[in-house]
Formats: sequence, structure tokens, C-alpha cells
Amino acid sequence: MSHAADNEGTRRDFLYYATAGAGVVATGAAVWPLIDQMNPSADVQAMSSIFVDVSAVEVGTQLTVKWRGKPVFVRRRTPEEIEAGRAVDVNTLIDKTAENLNKPGADASDQNRTLDEAGEWLIMIGVCTHLGCVPMGNGAGEFGGWFCPCHGSHYDTAGRIRKGPAPRNLDIPLVKFTDETNTTILLG
Ligand code: FES
Repeated sequence: MSHAADNEGTRRDFLYYATAGAGVVATGAAVWPLIDQMNPSADVQAMSSIFVDVSAVEVGTQLTVKWRGKPVFVRRRTPEEIEAGRAVDVNTLIDKTAENLNKPGADASDQNRTLDEAGEWLIMIGVCTHLGCVPMGNGAGEFGGWFCPCHGSHYDTAGRIRKGPAPRNLDIPLVKFTDETNTTILLG
């Protein structure tokens, strides 16, 4: 084989591999959103789980973290917020279900919305269930919880819809504490 032919062969191989590589990337990009929307496998879910250090979140404050492209509110409630949330009769609520992935089918009692039994920790997807705006927190709105300024939805101290066009309580994602000291949560 001449030296020139050898070079040509090498170049052809390179072009072939480059094309194959580009094809794989394009396929991956097209398929990914579909997998994401359908039923993500356990390993895909695990990849998108995150740990969040909540040790610096003081009573009466909220930490917002971004997870899977959405804001997640980590609220550490005051005794007054807990009391207000627990005083509400579930039967008077617009959405009577907990909307809590950790408690499928549970009713929307305050206890079914929080992460801990004492009711201090409330972790929710910070996306209004009407058309997806991010509600304002820190006691905003007529019910002392969150208020969505886009079309006027009021959520109470447990993140339950109480007034306005939003149809559902703010969603609670899969979440748990990773230890007894309640300093780190695992989302997803
Ligand atoms: S998006 Fe929140 S009230 Fe419409």
C-alpha cells in the first residue's frame, strides 16, 4: 500500500466516526425530553435527586433551591404558622387532597403537608398551580402564606390554595430528611 492511500484511508475512517458520533448526540437530545416526561427509570430519577443542607434555615424563613428546573421552597414555619395551618377544617378547602407525593391519597390536613411531625418543615414546588408563576412567600397574601401576583391566588401557611384561580395546593415533591438531626434533605 502506498503512503498516499494509507493517509486517505485514515481520513475516511475519521470522517465516519465523526458522523457516527454526531448522530448519537442528536438522538440523545431528541429522546431525552420524552423519557423525562414519561416514566423515568430509577437510575434517571436517582441522577436528578439532590441533597440540600437546611441547617442554616431559621424559623420564619424560607430557602429557595432550584431543582429539575423549578424553584423548591423550604420553609421553616413559626409556631403561629403551624397553629394557623392546623386550625383549618379540611372540608372548607378548595383542594382537599394533600398533593404530597410522600403521602399519596392523603387529605389536605396540615399534618399531611409537612415533612416532620411537629409541622415545622414545609417543602413545596414553588410553582403556582394556576399557570405556573412563582408565588411570593414570607406571609404574603390574605392567608399568611404565599401569594401569586400573576392572577391573584392566595395560599395559606401550609401552601394550600384558599382564594383565586389556582385549582390545587402547591405540590409537595418526594423528599425526606437524611438523618435524625434534620439538617439535610434529599429531594427526589
Ligand atoms: S399563575 Fe398564579 S394565579 Fe395565575
